[in-house]
Amino acid sequence: KQVEKKLRTGYHFQPPKHWINDPNGPMYYKGLYHLFYQYNPKGSVWGNIVWAHSVSTDLIDWTALEPGIYPSKTFDVKGCWSGSATVLPSGVPAIMYTGIDPDERQVQNVAYPVNLSDPFLREWVKPDYNPIIFPDSGINASAFRDPTTAWYGPDGHWRLVVGSKVNMKGLAVLYRSRDFKTWVKAHHPLHSAHTGMWECPDFFPVAVAGGSRHHRRGVDTAELHDRAVAEEVKYVLKVSLDLTRFEYYTVGRYNHATDRYIPDAAFPDNDYGLRYDYGDFYASKSFYDPAKRRRIVWGWANESDTVPDDRRKGWAGIQAIPRKLWLSPDGKQLVQWPVEELEALRSKHVNVSDKVIKSGDNFKVTGFKSVQSDVDMVFAIKDLSKAEKFEPAWRNDAQALCTRLGSHVKGGVGPFGLWVLASGDLKERTAVFFRVFKAGNASSHVVLMCNDPTKSSYESQAYRPTFAGFVDVDIAKNKKIALRTLIDHSVVESFGARGKTCILTRVYPRKAIGDDAHLFVFNNGESDVKITNLDAWEMKTPKMNAGEQ
Ligand code: FRU
Repeated sequence: KQVEKKLRTGYHFQPPKHWINDPNGPMYYKGLYHLFYQYNPKGSVWGNIVWAHSVSTDLIDWTALEPGIYPSKTFDVKGCWSGSATVLPSGVPAIMYTGIDPDERQVQNVAYPVNLSDPFLREWVKPDYNPIIFPDSGINASAFRDPTTAWYGPDGHWRLVVGSKVNMKGLAVLYRSRDFKTWVKAHHPLHSAHTGMWECPDFFPVAVAGGSRHHRRGVDTAELHDRAVAEEVKYVLKVSLDLTRFEYYTVGRYNHATDRYIPDAAFPDNDYGLRYDYGDFYASKSFYDPAKRRRIVWGWANESDTVPDDRRKGWAGIQAIPRKLWLSPDGKQLVQWPVEELEALRSKHVNVSDKVIKSGDNFKVTGFKSVQSDVDMVFAIKDLSKAEKFEPAWRNDAQALCTRLGSHVKGGVGPFGLWVLASGDLKERTAVFFRVFKAGNASSHVVLMCNDPTKSSYESQAYRPTFAGFVDVDIAKNKKIALRTLIDHSVVESFGARGKTCILTRVYPRKAIGDDAHLFVFNNGESDVKITNLDAWEMKTPKMNAGEQ
């Protein structure tokens, strides 16, 4: 069966065909980046799950290898689900993953490379002492999965957490081990909250500003036990909520003695929580890259078209661009930015500077093909006093606010932003934009970032929710806001305020494809805005998983 090429992505990670979901076990080993991912070798819907495996020297060009982990033993005969890699102090990488056993129980298994001198780590062996973590009586065996990277404690014990739930309480169940073989459940979870099931937990340290290392530098989970390191870091706990299909994280402290995580602010029971991405981004997993001393996060972006569409296309799912991630200097949130390697794909370039977009106007960026591009720009706001008043209750639901105030609804300051993947007649377009409001005490402002795909396609079947998040910037200070958007045929991946708020969305234009996809800057607010600077590049197509043969 032929794969439909039309809306396939150019530089986002994707296998040649079939279904993909979660990124698994990302790591750096002997000069290569490894990415495993949930994959159906037989079709473009979820099922028959194995760990597909790709390697890269630069996170941009990828070579597909044979699947690294696939059902072969009783403890994983019904599926090899998500998990993580831990590079042990000896340099040996260990993979922990969830196996589905003959009774449909979710058990945790370990696998090791067969040949450590093969930098490709092609073959993995699963010792017979698996499963090493079994759902005991207190645990729901159908909600017990996705082990994290393990970390080492000052007491000489390894730790890791497994995602679970009890009724509506999401749990990060904590296990300890001396030898990475015998694991014992701790009396209490690392953390829990009333959110529903926690899938794909991720727990890791981030450097704080003012410490001895630069705050953008990554910290290895393996360093957690080091006292000097521990004093200069905060911790992040991220979970994926199967109920909402969104991810949330908190920043907090980790008490080594009690093995508890104490978030600075509680996990949310509404939309007001911190997210890596306010759009289509799920089951993410981070890893420490020792080559460039950074932490990188991978996240899965599902299709938002229909299942019949996916069957027809012959492919479904991509990975978002790998993002470097660090703690903002104020310690309140994470900041993310596409890995710098991506810039090597930039080719034909256009620039626009000092261009005023008057109230109600729009402007077409010409001279390059925007269907596969990288757009990096800064807006300046002419008159902040035109900002409308913000109602405090709106804080609870950015998405509802943006759904109500879509890109066509005129405002005071904004909506202004980009129309991407737009047809020449503008009948198809996806809007990425900002709105600025005046907060109660007039001197401060609230900035909303939105992605409005309601006009993205003539195709009416696709799921087209508006996505939105607030942006924590002091807009009154220099009256500017930056936006970077990665456009890739059916992907619109945006970074507001240099990575403080990110939104990825999948869209399926009918007209705005190939050379008929255009880029516009628009302003539907009363205040004029100025493009201080806009750089846009066509993006080359990297080697994407063509395979070794
Ligand atoms: C998240 C998830 C994981 C599970 C995997 C199965 O998308 O449901 O919890 O391990 O996908 O493919």
